[in-house]
Amino acid sequence: MKDLKLRLDVNNMMSDFIGEKGFTETELNSASEKAKEAFNYVKENRGLGMMGWTELPYNQDGIVEDILKTAKEIQEKFDYFVVLGIGGSALGPIAIQQALNHMHYNDLPKEKRNGCPKLYVEDNIDPERMASLFDVIDLEKTCINVISKSGSTSETMSQYLILWDALTKAFGDKAKDHVIATTDAEKGNLIKLAQKEGFKKYVIPDGVGGRFSEMCPVGLLAAAVCGIDIKAMLEGAAYMDKLADSDDIYKNAPLMAATMQYLAINKGYNISVMMPYADSLKFMADWYCQLWGESLGKKHDLNGNVVNVGQTPVKALGVTDQHSQVQLYTEGPFDKVITLLGVDNYRCEVKIPDGCEDIPAVNFLCGHTMNELITAERNATEYALLKSGHLNHTIMLPEVNAFTIGELMYFYELETAYCGAMLGINTFDQPGVEEGKNATYALLGRPGYEEKKKELESRPEKSTKYII
Ligand code: PA5
Repeated sequence: MKDLKLRLDVNNMMSDFIGEKGFTETELNSASEKAKEAFNYVKENRGLGMMGWTELPYNQDGIVEDILKTAKEIQEKFDYFVVLGIGGSALGPIAIQQALNHMHYNDLPKEKRNGCPKLYVEDNIDPERMASLFDVIDLEKTCINVISKSGSTSETMSQYLILWDALTKAFGDKAKDHVIATTDAEKGNLIKLAQKEGFKKYVIPDGVGGRFSEMCPVGLLAAAVCGIDIKAMLEGAAYMDKLADSDDIYKNAPLMAATMQYLAINKGYNISVMMPYADSLKFMADWYCQLWGESLGKKHDLNGNVVNVGQTPVKALGVTDQHSQVQLYTEGPFDKVITLLGVDNYRCEVKIPDGCEDIPAVNFLCGHTMNELITAERNATEYALLKSGHLNHTIMLPEVNAFTIGELMYFYELETAYCGAMLGINTFDQPGVEEGKNATYALLGRPGYEEKKKELESRPEKSTKYII
């Protein structure tokens, strides 16, 4: 397993390497007590409250068998698999698909997709996008997976209503065979609908919030339908869990990463940039942004004090953003921690051919591979950040596969939980998101939200002076 272990390199967070903006050994060691407390808090609360996600690498065996059987049936029967969900119900499935399947998966002929259906993850309610979906799917060959933990999110439920209407009009009482609902076992409206209409159901276990739900049916079903080895993903997550079983920051990589971010936040580094050097990991950055932003951005601490903490996550892509954002990262304000996500072995090698012998300034590329080029550019960016004294660290994946993706996602879930514990906040709620959801319900007249509607109506009238 050692050759599939992720590596965290935090040298460039230290003053010995990047100069005065870096942390001293003394600073790091003085935070190690806080880190131990965070480790113990997470360990003691495993499987409790909203920390049910810690057990997902171990308690999904029966579910996994059912998912694999269902995935096979879907592959045999359908050509399109449409996920309806938003936030944690969508970002994981998108990130996994991009990481582990062909870059142009949906464009491949079915035999090159190993008989798996095309995947569409509809995580927005832009009417143009919804209308466009109907132009690319054939309803008869479409299975939809509607995912909502609360079973009431307006975006997901409106998508469901549109698809369900189309399916019932087309197939009458057979429409239910095209729908799978993934939701809470008891709470919410989706479970009621699933029971009423007779949909196949998967349960989001207790204690598993949206952004921590990739290793349960939320993420596993779409992945299995698209031919991804979900058992390996879970094994990777379990492996990271074992690797992180120490309260010593030098032996627990997610704890070390969390401690570094905690120190950085305390010094006013309010931005966390996630910059993978692999297109396959591009949407991992989106998934990370939700996890980090929604978990750590909090008004109150656990004692009810107003703290307004958090670190704004920013996604970037190596090397694309070397030609846009990296200028800011190297010469802009000292307010960011930059994470470079690298890959040792890409899944293919592309040679740069000869063909420019008479122009040495181009010819130097010839004979190299794109693999060498992208690695050199990651090293070059790391060097530029080091030279300019900006905090950065690197996570290396030996290769991108189901196992290492399970490891990576669990790494970040742990890092987030540790950092939230150090900040003394509730990492697992999202009152700011709920506020927006409730205001939407009120604006569109959901029963029970009359008071909220009045609250919205009592907002000050907008002045025309400020509308130009
Ligand atoms: O992480 C979260 O809890 C949120 O982002 C939710 O996933 C998102 O709001 C969707 O909620 P639900 O699954 O209840 O429809």
